[in-house]
Amino acid sequence: MDIIKTKDLNLFYGENHALKNINLDIKKNSVTALIGPSGCGKSTFLRTINRMNDLIDNVKITGNIFCEGKDVYTEYDVIDLRKKIGMVFQKPNPFPMSIYDNIAYGPRIHGIKDKRTLDEIVEKSLKGAVLWEEVKDRLKKSAMGLSGGQQQRLCIARTLAVEPEVILMDEPTSALDPISTLKIEELMDVLKKKYTVIIVTHNMQQAGRIADETAFFLVGEIVESGKTEDLFYKPRDKRTEDYITGRFG
Ligand SMILES: Nc1ncnc2c1ncn2[C@@H]1O[C@H](COP(=O)(O)OP(=O)(O)OP(=O)(O)O)[C@@H](O)[C@H]1O
Ligand SMILES: [Mg+2]
Repeated sequence: MDIIKTKDLNLFYGENHALKNINLDIKKNSVTALIGPSGCGKSTFLRTINRMNDLIDNVKITGNIFCEGKDVYTEYDVIDLRKKIGMVFQKPNPFPMSIYDNIAYGPRIHGIKDKRTLDEIVEKSLKGAVLWEEVKDRLKKSAMGLSGGQQQRLCIARTLAVEPEVILMDEPTSALDPISTLKIEELMDVLKKKYTVIIVTHNMQQAGRIADETAFFLVGEIVESGKTEDLFYKPRDKRTEDYITGRFG
């Protein structure tokens, strides 16, 4: 089943036509990688899915994005939408507060006040992001004291705490060392059993390791999308082949 569907999606930053006729459907409980050279619209597309572009001036969007059959731009309240579709950024961005409060932040905004319930959410989310064992004895300590890789897993746990359906990740491992990267990659396999993950990555090996589906972006268009192994080993388009074999980009 497709949880996200896009239909003839176009996005303009002023005169700059940054997304051109995107028609990409995302399967539920899968990991989809978005690849392509710098400046070709991957982050723009990702942000369009949970309306993070709403905050940017001069953006015009045509076409549709549907999440579970409902139009993201006309049939959702943006707060509800971002609860359903969470986001993890390239640079870990923990809030300057305790580990516990970072995770409890979202649920509190959504009205959960009971301490026992919050305790449970914090533990479950940290376990879900495979961070619990490392931090369970220092939950009241500042999140800023965690390593970069731990901070990124904390940000994933923070996203999990509001029980999203879809998690958007924009180059979540590009600021991390190889061991932390491996931990996040392993986490993907666990996460997709419950969630749908869409991840931007510049690392082809990473896309090959973690993604079920891959979409190749080039100057605002999707050149090709489909099963990751097909895209890597039997690309239909010469431009895809050139990109994945490192001939450009
Ligand atoms: N906030 C913005 N305002 C105006 N133009 C923007 C904005 N963000 C991105 N763009 C433009 O939109 C195009 C696509 O940018 P985008 O950031 O989506 O690319 P990307 O594929 O994520 O690149 P990278 O791999 O370098 O992160 C570029 O031409 C970029 O300059
Ligand atoms: Mg980007």
